[in-house]
Amino acid sequence: MTMTRTQVAIVGGGPAGLMLSHLLHGSGIECVVVDNRTVEEIRTTHRAGILERDSVRLLAETGVYASGHERVITHGDRHGGIYLRFGGESHHIDFEELVGASVWLYPQTDVFVDLHAARVRDGGDLRYGITDTAVHDLDTDLPRVTYADADGQVHQVTADLVVGADGSRSICRDLVAGHDRYFREYPFAWFGILCEAPRSSPELIYARSDRGFALISQRTDTVQRMYFQCDPTEDASAWSDDRIWGELQARLAGPDGFELSEGPVIERTVLPFRSFVQTPMRSGRLLLAGDAAHTVPPTGAKGLNLALADTRVLAEVVERALGKGDLDALDDYTDRALARVWKAQHFSYWMTTMLHRAPGQREHRDFDELRQLGELTSLVSSEAGATYLAEGYTGWPTP
Ligand code: DHB
Repeated sequence: MTMTRTQVAIVGGGPAGLMLSHLLHGSGIECVVVDNRTVEEIRTTHRAGILERDSVRLLAETGVYASGHERVITHGDRHGGIYLRFGGESHHIDFEELVGASVWLYPQTDVFVDLHAARVRDGGDLRYGITDTAVHDLDTDLPRVTYADADGQVHQVTADLVVGADGSRSICRDLVAGHDRYFREYPFAWFGILCEAPRSSPELIYARSDRGFALISQRTDTVQRMYFQCDPTEDASAWSDDRIWGELQARLAGPDGFELSEGPVIERTVLPFRSFVQTPMRSGRLLLAGDAAHTVPPTGAKGLNLALADTRVLAEVVERALGKGDLDALDDYTDRALARVWKAQHFSYWMTTMLHRAPGQREHRDFDELRQLGELTSLVSSEAGATYLAEGYTGWPTP
């Protein structure tokens, strides 16, 4: 067995774990990151693509990039608003005008690649592709993480603190003493595609239609990302390109003559919908970050942004705890992180329920459809309503 002594053992090397280790490195705090996935597995898993203003700042202003080469700025696309589409017409919500902020289209896979490159550049201790990860001795001052490498050799990392940034299938979350969990199930899922096609719109389109929700997002000049509401039991492989385009075209059609550009579908997946929050996010020397502690439905793309916001607060309290010897600083973490999480839960729930069709809803013109249209109409015709959307979408300031 090999033994390593570090200050923070981070379980999970996705964007949350890597961002935290990057921030801690900047404060002179040592850490080791372990993850049972390989770098290639994480790099090729498609996730959401929208970064809030403060997520962009966190990437651009904390030394992730060599100065002057901030890829998130040079390769990402700044979006000053979105379109809400209903009744076959699009309505622009202008974030710049309403709240003086933008978001950036920069996929999570690129965020991961950039953070991974930064950690490698700075000599970070990253251990991917391992198995049998386990956390021990959380009731002592020196908890341990053990795992086996690809050759079956066992390793042990002893640390002052353990962070569970190990995603929605977290092994760490169960170890938080005295936790409570809150769930909300949604009766639908998203069918997500990547396709080879030109952009159909300068900014994202969130569409409500009689056939259910659709989202027209983007990736590059030649590859686009789109989603449409489907049944959670839907089998993605049962959908031909023609059937997918027929469904998307039907949900985007309208009297304004909007044209959705089509092309070969190069990836298709069904994404489940679920809301989950665990509290507290810390007990003793174990702290959780990102999806390990909370997941939101995808509408509004809050998941990665919440994970990055967690790391900002976490890096600060860990620095006070280990850098300045004030362990009580960890007491603040749960309340500060969860304040934002619950705002985002509401925001994602609200965008979801405003734009999706409940199963069992009558084909046409039932109470909920007319109520949704009333809500959307009041939103696009009221500065106060549109400002709530703009503020939540671009992200609340971190206190
Ligand atoms: C994307 C995903 C979302 O959930 C969203 O609200 C906006 C964009 C995306 O993958 O591009």
